[in-house]
Amino acid sequence: MRTKIVAGNWKMNKLPSEAPALIEGIRKATNDGDCGVDVVVCVPFTDIPAAAQALKGSKIGLGAQNMHWKDAGAYTGEISAAMLKDLGVQYVILGHSERRQYFAETDETVNLKLKAALAAGLTPIVCVGETLEEREEGKMQEVIVRQVSEDLAGCQEDFARIVIAYEPVWAIGTGKTATSTQAQEVHALIRATLAKMNPEQADEVRIQYGGSMKPENAADLMSKPDIDGGLIGGAALKADSFAAIVHAGK
Ligand code: PGA
Repeated sequence: MRTKIVAGNWKMNKLPSEAPALIEGIRKATNDGDCGVDVVVCVPFTDIPAAAQALKGSKIGLGAQNMHWKDAGAYTGEISAAMLKDLGVQYVILGHSERRQYFAETDETVNLKLKAALAAGLTPIVCVGETLEEREEGKMQEVIVRQVSEDLAGCQEDFARIVIAYEPVWAIGTGKTATSTQAQEVHALIRATLAKMNPEQADEVRIQYGGSMKPENAADLMSKPDIDGGLIGGAALKADSFAAIVHAGK
């Protein structure tokens, strides 16, 4: 049995001075994360110290939204896995579609980041997903198989430590959710792709759905056999809607 995992992706929202209040609300509404579902908040870099402080004594995990693959060096403006670890970060989102779209993230750089995150002992949340154009051109399967194979290449022995988020790009922030049947089809494809790479650990990988997940559709999505939780954007910015999604995962 895979424990469900619901993570909030705050994106570029909430000031360091605002983060503690949202975290306080999430702590209250989720029994401090001790609710049968793994709960994680992925905050902006600048919020990490305040968030770590606000999360003290709770079971809620702390995550970042990106990192560089090098340990240290002349990479102006970048943040390493070691820097995140030093602040108490446990999770890191890698390859989010917004980073692929706006910041030239590629399968190759996602793979480098994944290896560095694993080496540092962080739990990576690797995002994959097709655009609307790719889906309409019948290329969804090809895109998903390519992303999973290339992003996770060489990490087969660590599959059990990796979380994958299937986020159809057309569903992110649009209010347009994939149906649970559509999502399950892709989640099963992701698991089949993982099984070809490492049959022993493919069943242990938790695969989240992301893209306009909200309290109204979360239980239906997470009732599917290969949907092991959610990566939540907009609905993660309010404690009550985020907590309602967490509880829907039970
Ligand atoms: P959304 O974002 O829930 O606002 O669609 C999800 C994500 O991008 O992780």
